[in-house]
Amino acid sequence: MTLSIICNDNKLDRWIDALKACDPSLDVQVWPNESNRGDVEFALCWKHPEGVLQEYPNLRCVCSMGAGIDFMLNDARFPRHLPVIRLIDPSLAHAMYEYILTVVMYYFRDLDIYRAQQAQSNWRVHINRPMSKTTIAVMGLGKLGEYAASRLALMGFKVTGWSRSQKSIKGVKAFAGDEALDEFVSTADLLVCLLPLTGQTRGILNSGLFNKMPKGACLINVARGQHLVEKDLIDALDKGQLRGACLDVFSQEPLPAEHPFWKNDKILLTPHCSSLTDPASVAPQIVENYHRMKKGEPLINQVDIERGY
Ligand code: GLV
Repeated sequence: MTLSIICNDNKLDRWIDALKACDPSLDVQVWPNESNRGDVEFALCWKHPEGVLQEYPNLRCVCSMGAGIDFMLNDARFPRHLPVIRLIDPSLAHAMYEYILTVVMYYFRDLDIYRAQQAQSNWRVHINRPMSKTTIAVMGLGKLGEYAASRLALMGFKVTGWSRSQKSIKGVKAFAGDEALDEFVSTADLLVCLLPLTGQTRGILNSGLFNKMPKGACLINVARGQHLVEKDLIDALDKGQLRGACLDVFSQEPLPAEHPFWKNDKILLTPHCSSLTDPASVAPQIVENYHRMKKGEPLINQVDIERGY
């Protein structure tokens, strides 16, 4: 019985070591060099090549190497009858919160404006609003969104949140469903996207939404590049409807060198590093699920593949 790691990264030693440290008897192999694909029952995947999972006749479970599973939905030949699990990890949620907090403070304390002024030797002070009058609007109140929203509220910001179903989070004004989206964004000084990527959320960050936000608001996208209509963002920044955008995720990754986002001085850009999975931190839950699968017990962190998260 084999666990195979199926992804395009060739630096997998940390993953193999972490899995083996949890269970030295585990047979961990790496695509495409498994000794026998018929032995593989558990696949640990990240952006696997389309259709490749069809080559494992005895596969019983597929686990994402991250929090998201949208790459599985993009594979038209994904074996949808198999249970799918994802990683839920407190250190992943905390790292995401750190990133969001850093960017929120950057805009909140006008560092983008001072950076632009510096380029023109311009000494001009801006009086910024207090935290209690600044609204951080978090789209997506899953594990990561809930964690970030509740901590930003503890910092003293006004925090709102939006999700498909109604949530209740201390210190956060929660909105739910399509009918509440306009009201939710109407007060968003900083909009943080942490939504799962599904048919309903693809392209949700578009000019219709930007135009309903307060003029001069900022966007932080740490979810998926496909949530954003890129041209609409550039238009909104050009017109001043949005003051700035921080993007960690892109439709095409790595972002091509000729992409206009690189040179846009209203865009702060990072290479999908807002929250990186630490193999040592997540290996115990992967190995736990591997043993549960073997014993036919219910899996932890199972995803509803039809719902998409
Ligand atoms: C990263 O983007 C993840 O889904 O973990």
